[in-house]
Amino acid sequence: MTALRISDLVFRWPRQAENCLDIPLLELGAGERVFLHGPSGSGKSTLLGLLGGVALPQQGTVELLGTDLTQLGGRARDRFRADHIGFLFQQFNLLPWLSALDNVLLPCTFSSRRRDRAGAVPRAEAERMLRHLDLDTASWSKPAAELSVGQQQRVAAARALIGRPEILIADEPTSALDAERQQIFIDLLLQESAAVGATLVFVSHDRRLAGHFDRSVALDEINRAARSVEA
Ligand SMILES: Nc1ncnc2c1ncn2[C@@H]1O[C@H](COP(=O)(O)OP(=O)(O)O)[C@@H](O)[C@H]1O
Ligand SMILES: [Mg+2]
Repeated sequence: MTALRISDLVFRWPRQAENCLDIPLLELGAGERVFLHGPSGSGKSTLLGLLGGVALPQQGTVELLGTDLTQLGGRARDRFRADHIGFLFQQFNLLPWLSALDNVLLPCTFSSRRRDRAGAVPRAEAERMLRHLDLDTASWSKPAAELSVGQQQRVAAARALIGRPEILIADEPTSALDAERQQIFIDLLLQESAAVGATLVFVSHDRRLAGHFDRSVALDEINRAARSVEA
């Protein structure tokens, strides 16, 4: 089964002379764990924004789980994203004043589907995930702002995974970690996405990470608008 299919996609940022993305085809199977790499500035985050329905392409289709996001209105896209996609950002985007546990529970407050899929007691599921991700219990009730980078990352991973979203999108989530911690974190993410059966799109500029994944895609090879832009 196809989880994600992009076809004839063209995207250009406002006031830019050239297209940022021109991708004839990209298909990912359900449960596939894919490494998407490209240099800084090559359009990786832009593509993830299109996959999440945060932005719309000028041309083409973005189908997730059989739904073409380009045919939905803004509210319906927001709903689709909340219900079906777990996001893990480079800067984590935790709410600093909320506790670790409440940050993990956020997707369940935005989506009744995620809440239902998090079991009878979502808080218990959030605790189970944090325990599984090795976050010490003393940190669960601390505001996110008081956690270390490694702890914040675990909270962000639990938040992305809670309620078993079918699609997990991770935008350079390991760049703040040293090599050993990177490896541990990626293995955790792979295990967890396999456990929930999620399709994982993991983005990085660091090609050395490719070996962990089922499949590797070079953005510049699928993007006809590719120009090598080094930051
Ligand atoms: N909000 C924006 N407005 C205009 N241009 C943007 C915006 N965000 C990114 N870009 C441009 O799009 C290109 C790709 O950026 P990005 O998707 O962030 O690359 P990557 O994630 O691979 O580093 C860059 O040339 C960048 O300047
Ligand atoms: Mg980026």
